Amino acid sequence: MRKVLLLGASGSIGSQALDIIEKDPGSFVLSAFSVGYRVEKIPEILLKHPEVSAICVRKEEDRLNLEKEYPSIQWHSGDEGLKELCLAADYDMAVNALVGFSGLIPSLTVLQENKILALANKESLVVGGELVNKLLRSGKGKLYPIDSEHVALAKMLDRVKREDVEKLLITASGGSFRNKGRGELGSVTPEMALHHPTWRMGAKITIDSATMMNKGFEVIEAMYLYDWPLEKIEIVLHDESMVHSLLQMKDGSFVADISKPDMHGPIAYAMYEKKVDYQVYFAKSIADFGPYHFHRFNPERYPAVQIAMQAIERGGTAPAILNAANEEADYLFLAGKIPFLSIESIVSSALKHVSVQRNPSLRDILAADSYARIYVQRKAEGRN
Ligand SMILES: NC(=O)c1ccc[n+]([C@@H]2O[C@H](COP(=O)([O-])OP(=O)(O)OC[C@H]3O[C@@H](n4cnc5c(N)ncnc54)[C@H](OP(=O)(O)O)[C@@H]3O)[C@@H](O)[C@H]2O)c1
Repeated sequence: MRKVLLLGASGSIGSQALDIIEKDPGSFVLSAFSVGYRVEKIPEILLKHPEVSAICVRKEEDRLNLEKEYPSIQWHSGDEGLKELCLAADYDMAVNALVGFSGLIPSLTVLQENKILALANKESLVVGGELVNKLLRSGKGKLYPIDSEHVALAKMLDRVKREDVEKLLITASGGSFRNKGRGELGSVTPEMALHHPTWRMGAKITIDSATMMNKGFEVIEAMYLYDWPLEKIEIVLHDESMVHSLLQMKDGSFVADISKPDMHGPIAYAMYEKKVDYQVYFAKSIADFGPYHFHRFNPERYPAVQIAMQAIERGGTAPAILNAANEEADYLFLAGKIPFLSIESIVSSALKHVSVQRNPSLRDILAADSYARIYVQRKAEGRN
């Protein structure tokens, strides 16, 4: 029986993690959770999970109202509240389903507390991969990724000899505009970008899939998770999102991980610490799937991947600048304030103009995040 702290319970991954907890009350009990602004989700979650003893919300005003309504629960709010929740709640495993930079400090705190981290928040690794790995090496905390590509890689790497593997191949659907050339992207709208061909996900990751910044992030994530050289990780386009990643072996063969595009499988794999019942979450017959189509990845069509690679190669706080500028640009695009193609140019410009610190501490990463956000806001307002 694992006591679970669920960060981001109101989101796409968060609600699927709730399904898994509800499906197997013998293995999981929800002891604490967070939502952001969608506090209207709280009563229903509490009805199904009466053991919850602590909750964090985004706004202090919501915390004050909810405290009156549910006095037996320990309430927290804001970024500081997320950290307090990770320090004070009673849990064995935290599922980090927060989106963006907000997930970094909770990830680090869970590992500092020597707890199990089931990690959907890839931004934690993009901006703080070195800090996360340092904590994993020095403490007793454990990390299980939730991203479907990285669960696929974990499953395959557990079954082969590392020295027999030539490359990791991360599959990509190509996002909402995969059938459009760059020349057609000038006038695309947020509504069009939010229509992903194979996955239903939160807004930010759906935009990141359309630019493919998401795939750049996933290459960085794989590098940190599996200590794999960047030049030996490749992206391959795959239309159906059934093959979640591949290993290219030195003998010329390919090993693939295949399952339907349903995040319940990868989330369960992480939450059961790899000991998931395949009969429940994965298909029983290969005939349920296919056909499969693969295409070569064209970096000129998706420059965001190249921008992400340049940031990680530069190191220091460059990945934090990359992430913050991308997050701000995504939200400006979603609000209709900048065109789609400006996301890439703004991120690229932030990396040129915001200064990079070497060997960053957490404080340096937080500062880089703030500077990059200010830079993007000013740029969008036409100021320098
Ligand atoms: N969705 C997928 O299928 C999928 C697949 C692989 C990886 N991932 C990764 O999983 C993470 C979550 O993605 P998602 O699609 O589930 O996102 P989502 O649907 O937007 O959910 C994000 C959650 O985080 C909360 N949140 C957002 N900003 C916050 C802040 N500043 N403080 C506190 N809470 C905050 C939201 O609260 P409110 O909505 O209540 O404001 C919501 O509960 C991302 O890192 C994504 O890249 C997602």
